[in-house]
Amino acid sequence: MKVHSGQVQAGQSCADLEDFSFHRTPVLVVEDFWSADERRGFREAMDRANWNALSELPHVREDFPNSGNWSKAEIAQPQAQVLLRRLPMKPIQEYVESFPGIKGRHLGFSYYSYGAGDCLLTHDDTAQGYQTIGKAAPLRRLAMVTYFHEEWESDWGGELIVYAPESESSGKKPKLRVTHCIAPLPGSLVMFTVPRFHRVCRVDETAGAHRRLSIAGWFMTEHY
Ligand SMILES: [Fe+2]
Repeated sequence: MKVHSGQVQAGQSCADLEDFSFHRTPVLVVEDFWSADERRGFREAMDRANWNALSELPHVREDFPNSGNWSKAEIAQPQAQVLLRRLPMKPIQEYVESFPGIKGRHLGFSYYSYGAGDCLLTHDDTAQGYQTIGKAAPLRRLAMVTYFHEEWESDWGGELIVYAPESESSGKKPKLRVTHCIAPLPGSLVMFTVPRFHRVCRVDETAGAHRRLSIAGWFMTEHY
């Protein structure tokens, strides 16, 4: 397992994640988080899931136009439990609990499958994907994505690009500069604090039938 903090390879071991702080380092990349056997188990669960294509999800499609036709499915309970058992919960809790006035804590994870032509345009995770109207939605605090495909070539695209706003810019969508370009390496795990602008690069035609398989979601808080 290799831990990258930002773009610097720290060469820490898994145990060092206990001391990791999202306050100090808002983007966490861990390579080889899942073994090949664990990835296979998740893929088998994904095969059994009920998938919906983006074209069948009108609310999500409104938030993510021109993003191809990726698919989404609800994560199965056993896989959600495996995921939560393995995530670095101490740093997650320390960060989530640092916000004042919390009255509820939520988490939500889904399976995602991106094929050639699929992408996700730039967004900051604050409001996208919410379908509740007239009700205050929980605030997303930490985003997570982790990859379960068997192999991934650099030419196949699908990188997660993370941005920081240029200091002088303001407004809903400020001028952005790239801070991280993270390849969807099989078995890797990425977490970052929200809000944070990011996008998923379009999966290239050269990927053929290979799909970018992930679990992604958020740790959220609800406030008084
Ligand atoms: Fe996102």
